[in-house]
Amino acid sequence: MLTQQDNDLLAQTGPGTPMGAFFRSFWLPALLPAELPEPDCAPVRVRLLGEDLVAFRDTSGRIAFMQNACPHRGASLFFGRNEEDGLRCVYHGWKFDVSGACVDMPNEPTESNFKHKIKAAAYPGVERGGVIWIYMGPAELSPEIPQLDWLDLPDGHKVINKWIQPSNYAQGVEGNIDSAHISFLHRSFELAPRNPRGARGTLSPDGSPRLTIKETDFGFVYGARRNAGNDEYYWRLTPFMLPTYTTIPSPAWPRTCFMLIPLDDHNTWWFTTSYNPDRPMPAERLGQRPWLIAGTWQSSLNPENDFKIDRELQKALNFTGIPEIRIQDMAMTDTMPRILNRTVEHLGTTDLAIITMRRMLIRLAKQATEGIAPYAALNGEVHRVRPLDVVDAEAELGMLMEKHREKFLELAPR
Ligand code: FES
Ligand SMILES: [Fe+2]
Repeated sequence: MLTQQDNDLLAQTGPGTPMGAFFRSFWLPALLPAELPEPDCAPVRVRLLGEDLVAFRDTSGRIAFMQNACPHRGASLFFGRNEEDGLRCVYHGWKFDVSGACVDMPNEPTESNFKHKIKAAAYPGVERGGVIWIYMGPAELSPEIPQLDWLDLPDGHKVINKWIQPSNYAQGVEGNIDSAHISFLHRSFELAPRNPRGARGTLSPDGSPRLTIKETDFGFVYGARRNAGNDEYYWRLTPFMLPTYTTIPSPAWPRTCFMLIPLDDHNTWWFTTSYNPDRPMPAERLGQRPWLIAGTWQSSLNPENDFKIDRELQKALNFTGIPEIRIQDMAMTDTMPRILNRTVEHLGTTDLAIITMRRMLIRLAKQATEGIAPYAALNGEVHRVRPLDVVDAEAELGMLMEKHREKFLELAPR
């Protein structure tokens, strides 16, 4: 349970808010490269952290995100002409370069120096690892692109998708660090619960995992330990990487990394990377999610159609009556109020990771307002971690992490 004040602090990320300052300390995923395919291509509207921006790639290939509203009289720069290293507003011709400087003002007398006084808000962008990243924070900080496990893999070894969750980011993040729900929400009756791992970790018969947490320089690791019989445990170790990233443990590759970025306080961008370091992704995993409505980044299965729940399927085949795991998650997080009221919830023992995440983010948000940037924002190498999914006799999280450190938690330097 949170106080109303802390719930607001957690959920609100617009300009001037503490959590907004926290998010603005990081390079954040903003677009897919295909959205800005080449120099001087069409600009793209994008809303992030409650700010309406327009992204463009200039003649020299540089990427910037500019305020959508032209500083002159507020026309949308989305309609602008992307030409000769700048974006020109089509209303009266003012032109801005990637730094936001006004470089031409053709409707003013040539002797006027008015243009030197005008600056549009502009944020730098960079393409790296199959993502266009944005940095929306103060110029004096120099954060690093997070060196996520998949960042430098060749193209065929990863598939990056994005879509919009129509609710606040925090409830999406809470679902991703909630190991307990997989025994219920994602249960399938087709697969007999013999293997302690279950199918992709979805079937473990022990529905009340014991959770332990270890804070790290990237955020924290939480271990969910289930009894596996024969004096062994089925362990799932999930890294929570600041600001909101998780990679879900599963017994085999490919694995999926989730990155949740507030679009505004009521909507969230999901960026997901499914990847396999050892071999190319299978053809059926390439491409966008089949349930996306073309051109919208929104799901065709949504609260309006109750995610097409099938009550017969729910009786016979799976716990929810909703076919796909990701949609099952959406049905839970997106039918809560857009901003969950955490003053009336009742947290139990399996909610430990959620409590830890909230405390950590609120603490870092308060520090961000004092100008203290998170260590993980400034040191991209701390994000180089993998989850762990293993059956092991070790009962203690710290010892287990030590035992499997080389293989899973700390990758060899590249
Ligand atoms: S509104 Fe953009 S130049 Fe006038
Ligand atoms: Fe889930």
